Amino acid sequence: MRAAVLEQPGEPVAIEELILDEPKHGEVRVRILASGVCHSDLHVRDGEWPRPGPFVIGHEGAGIVEALGPGVDAAASGLNLGQLVALSWYAPCHACAACRSGREWLCSDSGSSRHRLTDGTTRAHRPNGSPVYPYCGIGTMAEATVVPASAAIPMPDGTPPDVAALIGCCVSTGVGAVIKTARVPPGSSVVVIGLGGVGLSVVMGAVLAGAGSIVAVDRVPAKLDLARELGATATVLAGADPEVTDGEVRSKTSSGPDFTFEAIGLAATIEQAIRLLPPGGTAVLVA
Ligand SMILES: NC(=O)c1ccc[n+]([C@@H]2O[C@H](COP(=O)([O-])OP(=O)(O)OC[C@H]3O[C@@H](n4cnc5c(N)ncnc54)[C@H](O)[C@@H]3O)[C@@H](O)[C@H]2O)c1
Ligand SMILES: [Zn+2]
Ligand SMILES: [Zn+2]
Repeated sequence: MRAAVLEQPGEPVAIEELILDEPKHGEVRVRILASGVCHSDLHVRDGEWPRPGPFVIGHEGAGIVEALGPGVDAAASGLNLGQLVALSWYAPCHACAACRSGREWLCSDSGSSRHRLTDGTTRAHRPNGSPVYPYCGIGTMAEATVVPASAAIPMPDGTPPDVAALIGCCVSTGVGAVIKTARVPPGSSVVVIGLGGVGLSVVMGAVLAGAGSIVAVDRVPAKLDLARELGATATVLAGADPEVTDGEVRSKTSSGPDFTFEAIGLAATIEQAIRLLPPGGTAVLVA
């Protein structure tokens, strides 16, 4: 298969021909139909996050189940051959204390955080046999991938693959921050700083939660247009002077925001998310 390989953080990504082994116990092979580009891919590409390569990069993908490893029960898991799945980059181990108590999202032993499959290895190899590891345990920027069955989430028939792919990272992150982490009550006033895949998903989550006002902030005008399409009630173009941006945001939230969401990951905008709050407000540091 062809795959986008990052030898080490900070080096250029190269398209390589790799060999993909058959799935082992508890694993499935997925033919990738769509893969997103999340900034968490760019952080490693740009050398900002140290991670042990070489990797097949990408952790936001969707595709079709094309092979089941031993021990995968198609009927119980919904992973029939041909099933469209979204890939989750935090495959629970199903064995640690958190998993056994039913809180799989707090799994303390996911291979994903080590960029390996559950057994600590990878199914992707170079022709000389040397291993190439799956970024976040799923390595989606490839024609196919082998992942733990718990990382393959069946999607309803007819879901467009590119939409399913985004559910794998930015949508779960942004919508989850609003409805699970912050539990934003209906009528709340919400500010979203940064409108990439994550921030735009925060906007969609705030719409789902029934927020009364949603002020979307970015330094790129086209992002403000996208946020409006998705339900932002007001937008602010962030300029060079943060005090001016603060003033514009405050002028659009009558008694100050109830919630601010930071979806960039910069110290300056994290401070801004906290500074914009009136007493009792909540800042959610998503990025
Ligand atoms: N917590 C998680 O599980 C999780 C999941 C996904 C992404 N992330 C992180 O979230 C962050 C956002 O990811 P993304 O893929 O949406 O990124 P992105 O690059 O697509 O979006 C970032 C947005 O912020 C805007 N921006 C940058 N600097 C700004 C500034 N000073 N003021 C206003 N706007 C500014 C950019 O124009 C862009 O629209 C990244 O750091 C990523 O690593 C975290
Ligand atoms: Zn991501
Ligand atoms: Zn676990």
